[in-house]
Amino acid sequence: MTPGELLERARDAARHAYAPYSGFRVGAAAVTGDGEVVTGANIENAAFGATVCAETNAITTAAASGSRRITAVAVVCLDGVPCTPCGNCRQVMREFGVDQVILSHGDGTPWILTLEDLLPESFGPEALDDPDVAEGS
Ligand code: THU
Repeated sequence: MTPGELLERARDAARHAYAPYSGFRVGAAAVTGDGEVVTGANIENAAFGATVCAETNAITTAAASGSRRITAVAVVCLDGVPCTPCGNCRQVMREFGVDQVILSHGDGTPWILTLEDLLPESFGPEALDDPDVAEGS
């Protein structure tokens, strides 16, 4: 699937956003290691901290079906300026090895970044492979 097609999938997913508090609707499309595309939208909550972002929703939905590798994530924010993933979603992407993050320029054309661009010097699962780190020493 091309970056443009993934952005379309993300845009479609944003139509299912539940954003009564912010009115800010976001959609995401995650590509699994098997080439499957799993979408998600932001789902807000009256207890604001319980809100789930679109990217996290897509990635954790894929993971809950067994995917442990996500190669790319496309993100579209409706009704607004181009937006970039929040810090928490960048860390969720990091967990599952996302390489490519596909955003949208104002004119709708793909804006392709790497996760390394968005989250340099990051902390990830391999740090805990070291038993000394895992034990906190
Ligand atoms: N949001 C996302 O879905 N993804 C992001 O990366 C940034 C923020 C959502 C959360 C909330 O529902 C709304 O956008 C405003 O913060």
